[in-house]
Amino acid sequence: MPITVNGSSVPLPDDPRVSLLDLLRERLHLSGTKLGCNQGACGACTVLVDGERIVSCLALAVQYDGRSVTTIEGLADGETLHPLQAAFIAHDGFQCGYCTPGQICSAIGMAAELERGMPSHVTADLGAAITLDRDELRERMSGNLCRCGAHNGIVDAILDVYAPAADDRAVAA
Ligand code: FES
Ligand code: FES
Repeated sequence: MPITVNGSSVPLPDDPRVSLLDLLRERLHLSGTKLGCNQGACGACTVLVDGERIVSCLALAVQYDGRSVTTIEGLADGETLHPLQAAFIAHDGFQCGYCTPGQICSAIGMAAELERGMPSHVTADLGAAITLDRDELRERMSGNLCRCGAHNGIVDAILDVYAPAADDRAVAA
């Protein structure tokens, strides 16, 4: 079976050693997904597989036979940006922007995890509805590093979309 990437069917590589990241960047020329550490530590290569976030540098493409992959290039609806893409722009959530695709894909996956009620390491009450407060946000996005220090803007953008009622000044401080 092929992989579906941003809605298009893509054949699996013949070589089972090809990572999902290399399939995306080198073979499909989808360079939005970034190569950072290549060892699962920075989050720059994060994409969504059937709505769940994964680091594509640690994934072999053949593992995703029949699955649906979404990269940063697949989030916009034509000329209309995904709300989180628009929020990153509105809140200046990037400087060099290198980490941005991974941050955005990761935050979308994180929101789906919240929706499913998945607790994080810092969730205090496993029986209560989870609020996306500062601690939850920092913990849940801790796999995505930004070397430029754009974290305050990134936090503001994510809160704007996924926790609009939160006191984001308190969270971003
Ligand atoms: S490039 Fe994959 S986590 Fe850093
Ligand atoms: S904006 Fe440069 S690494 Fe995050």
